[in-house]
Amino acid sequence: MSAQKPQILAIIGQGYVGLPLAMAAVDAGWTVIGVDNFEAKVAQINGGFSPVEDISNTQLQAAITKGAYKATTDYSAVSQASVITICVPTPLDNKREPDLTLLRSAATGIAPFVSNETLVVSESTSYPGTLRDIIIPIVNSLKPTESALVYFASAPERVNPGDPVWNQKNTPRLVGAIDKGSQKRALAFYESICDAAVSVSTPEVAEAAKLLENTFRLVNIALVNEFTQLCSASGINVYEVIDAASSKPYGFMPFRPGVGVGGHCIPVDPLYLTWWARQNGGKAAFVESADLINHAMPKYVADRALSMVNPSIKHPKVLILGVAYKPGVGDVRETPVSELRDHLKAQGADVAWHDPLVPVWEGSKPVDLDWECDIAILATKQPGMNLGKLIARRIQILDCTNSITGQTGVSSL
Ligand SMILES: NC(=O)c1ccc[n+]([C@@H]2O[C@H](COP(=O)([O-])OP(=O)(O)OC[C@H]3O[C@@H](n4cnc5c(N)ncnc54)[C@H](O)[C@@H]3O)[C@@H](O)[C@H]2O)c1
Repeated sequence: MSAQKPQILAIIGQGYVGLPLAMAAVDAGWTVIGVDNFEAKVAQINGGFSPVEDISNTQLQAAITKGAYKATTDYSAVSQASVITICVPTPLDNKREPDLTLLRSAATGIAPFVSNETLVVSESTSYPGTLRDIIIPIVNSLKPTESALVYFASAPERVNPGDPVWNQKNTPRLVGAIDKGSQKRALAFYESICDAAVSVSTPEVAEAAKLLENTFRLVNIALVNEFTQLCSASGINVYEVIDAASSKPYGFMPFRPGVGVGGHCIPVDPLYLTWWARQNGGKAAFVESADLINHAMPKYVADRALSMVNPSIKHPKVLILGVAYKPGVGDVRETPVSELRDHLKAQGADVAWHDPLVPVWEGSKPVDLDWECDIAILATKQPGMNLGKLIARRIQILDCTNSITGQTGVSSL
């Protein structure tokens, strides 16, 4: 199939997914309108300051200067677009169930401005049936009467923020549409910006595949977290075990233990799967169990760290190193470090944190590495985090990242 000739693309949501997609589309020759309902973010982006690490200010400014990209809060701008992609968050509500409020509001926002023969694609992660049962009815019920034909597809985003190798262009894109005309247009669109688009038979297959991919990570991380606790209790170095198992050339893939899972995807998406299973009268017991194991890790890490401190110290000072959910990003969404801090505080610790990529976290500011402490917990090893001084001061460190080796006073998980 020949790639779609670049025209105007509107992207709803200018975050970790939407903005990199916008820049990839600009590179491919598209003119992009980035719609976001967060006014301050739109002003920041139009001022040439990128809110996501994977897009540099220089790249953003170049796109703006050549007139290929503009952000706006105004949904009516999508009326110019031949393709509209929805890239808004799909979080959990307070019952830890799917919260599609933002997805519904994005569909409601674009609907009155969708032109005839426009392709609407959902890139947001959700359970199977979201495109067909939620987005399409909203758009079709509110679209202008002259927009008789609107095409729909699901193409879940697979971006891995901070990944130096895999990006929007070279990561194959799953595409599942509601009919042949939509599939043809959606494949042509993604072939214009990605090296490869993978055609699947329905949107539900694409939506389910995305949940399988992220649940695969969740359960494997849970397995290695549980395994770590078993090894540690027996005095076995789990990292050596993982490296040993990795020498098998087939049937094994290494995962590393840590404080838990964080970010907008791995802790969240599998709960879309467990919820969907329950709606269909089933139960994803294995996934629920993995979720519980990962949620127990912050307490395990807190207990391990406090057990290393002299018990005569009633209120040990604990320095947490790295609060973002993974290295190389300042993203603290769903970071398991929040639960780690809470468990430490519940046991009387005086807790401070340091993260070169996070200026403010849950209303508090970081301390520098000179902060006097009884123990430090290396939760996320950020680039540029120089721990040499801490090690030289003989501060005990519980390293949850296995990045400090051969130093006295440093224990690994
Ligand atoms: N971040 C990732 O690594 C990643 C990877 C793959 C898939 N996803 C999925 O992509 C989707 C988007 O995630 P993200 O990480 O880009 O989120 P994000 O929070 O970084 O960005 C979303 C943006 O959407 C805006 N927004 C929210 N509701 C809106 C609305 N109704 N209209 C216009 N703008 C709106 C927000 O202001 C925000 O700027 C989610 O479904 C997520 O699960 C994320």
